[in-house]
Amino acid sequence: MAALERTLVLLKPDAVARGLAGRIIQRFEDAGLKIVGTKMVQMDAELAKKHYFDLEERFGKSVFDVTANFMQTGPVIALVLEGVEAVATVRRLVGVTFPNQANPGTIRGDFAHTSKAYTEAKHTVAANLIHASGNPEEAKYEVELWFGAAELFDYQTVAERFLF
Ligand code: PPS
Repeated sequence: MAALERTLVLLKPDAVARGLAGRIIQRFEDAGLKIVGTKMVQMDAELAKKHYFDLEERFGKSVFDVTANFMQTGPVIALVLEGVEAVATVRRLVGVTFPNQANPGTIRGDFAHTSKAYTEAKHTVAANLIHASGNPEEAKYEVELWFGAAELFDYQTVAERFLF
């Protein structure tokens, strides 16, 4: 049976600075994902290290450095989204990591391709608007890293109220 999941989404500094937060969040809400936590955060080196703890091992030091540094260039908006198979659903809505390869209709495909910060980043993809947890284990770690229990909310959406 399909599982109800929670996943972490970060609207990266380029999304916030370009005024895309509202439109991006709308995409998630339109798809039926429920916001159960949200806040604006200025990341520091310590949080970046915890959040991207395995990035250097997976992609090398320069990817870690570029990504961690970029994430500290301005505030991010953190969201915890809940839904059926929310982790994979959000990744599908966001599109693949490299904006130039992301399909039209995905958030990166529609908004990230011409990002100035992306073209300046020279073969790294720091400015790709969004971070979204990669799998359920990562989601659990990231939700707990970013949000305390008191910052997460249980409530019924209108759609849930009318389900039978
Ligand atoms: S992947 O490809 O789906 O497994 O990547 P992902 O798990 O989303 O995490 C990769 C993060 O590193 C950033 N980054 C790069 N990834 C791959 N290759 C290169 N060259 C690269 N440069 C930067 C990428 O934007 C992902 O950041 P987050 O914040 O996790 O989305």
